[in-house]
Amino acid sequence: MNSRYPIFSLILLLLAACDAPEPVKGRVITTQSGEQINRHHPPDLVAQGGEIFQQYCASCHGKNGEGDPEWRKRGADGLFPPPPLNGTGHAWHHPMAFLQNRIKNGSAAGGGNMPAWGSKLNEKEIDAVIAWFQSQWPDQLYAAWYEIDQRALRR
Ligand code: HEC
Repeated sequence: MNSRYPIFSLILLLLAACDAPEPVKGRVITTQSGEQINRHHPPDLVAQGGEIFQQYCASCHGKNGEGDPEWRKRGADGLFPPPPLNGTGHAWHHPMAFLQNRIKNGSAAGGGNMPAWGSKLNEKEIDAVIAWFQSQWPDQLYAAWYEIDQRALRR
């Protein structure tokens, strides 16, 4: 970093970030209540999460996180099939703590078919896989999720 012109260096960094291809990183988006937030999915984390997803999650949730086409209807076993995680399902209704917990502990306790990953994935890996699927969400959805998450954090 150029120490004589720190502001200049910062502007260059910001410009570089604006030029980046999807998944979006370091962009300001506006929530429904008018709050400006910085949407940032660190590319390293997203890349790591993508590998984890293909290895452990894609067999059920689909290669791109599109979920089972029948995810809204209970299957023959009376349980729900794997839902989409790519923004076309309802994962965005869940605060971060819920997403982390669902991946770590699964949903067997609540009578669901989602396996627990806590013995295979550490917290950083769970956060990486969340970053991967969240990076696919459209801005509007991400902003709505952000507000839900903030509300949960204040509780
Ligand atoms: C054996 C199939 C299977 C695998 C593999 C699997 N899941 Fe799931 N997952 C499910 C099912 C089924 C549900 C719905 C559970 C329910 O109704 O309780 C679910 C639910 C979820 C949810 C909650 C989504 C929502 O909208 O409520 C998240 C998040 C999730 N899975 C993430 C993952 C991640 C990340 C991985 C890989 C580390 C993974 N899943 C691997 C079957 C699977």
